[in-house]
Amino acid sequence: MKIIFATHNQNKVKELHRLLPDPYELLSLNDIGCLPEIEETGKTLEENAKLKADYVRYKYGLDCFSDDSGLEVDALNGAPGVYSARYAGKEKNNDANIQKIWKSLKGVPDTAACFRSVFYVHLRGKTYSLEGRVAGKIVFEKRGFGGFGYDPIFIPNGHKKTFAELGDEIKNKISHRAIATKQLIELFNSI
Ligand code: IMP
Repeated sequence: MKIIFATHNQNKVKELHRLLPDPYELLSLNDIGCLPEIEETGKTLEENAKLKADYVRYKYGLDCFSDDSGLEVDALNGAPGVYSARYAGKEKNNDANIQKIWKSLKGVPDTAACFRSVFYVHLRGKTYSLEGRVAGKIVFEKRGFGGFGYDPIFIPNGHKKTFAELGDEIKNKISHRAIATKQLIELFNSI
């Protein structure tokens, strides 16, 4: 079964590819010839996920799903949230984003945070919104070399290592996208 994942982000495509069982063939926006970046103008993860999936559904007439994800820090009232990629500016610089998190959390004892991922799905004339969430905390040094984005400064609850130290195999079992992907597979299997 071919599934279109409405993203150009190759990290996410690779991650989802590993998470989906064999019968599912994942196609990215590049694979369907949709080259322009779909602007993420929403104010919530839900809005952004919907606008990306809607774009593909209405422009190409294809069933698809999209994801929008971000880091939500409790002490920062859920920031950077939907602005995670461009927290420190529109250049989307990971190092600058991490520095800004540390600066914003300076002197804050409780660094509880979560990664949240929202999937929006167009499937056989119906739409679905799915959500995965993994709770943890922010640390004040970068640890590990795996993953991307905020992975080197996020320790998921129940673990002593950051996502970047835990590596793809463990991250892909417990991550926000892994949880949302399980729901996606259940949805496909139920139809
Ligand atoms: P988007 O879903 O591509 O818009 O992701 C927004 C941003 O959230 C990314 O650029 C990262 O900074 C952050 N992010 C989302 N998921 C992860 C993750 O699994 N690890 C680290 N950072 C993430």
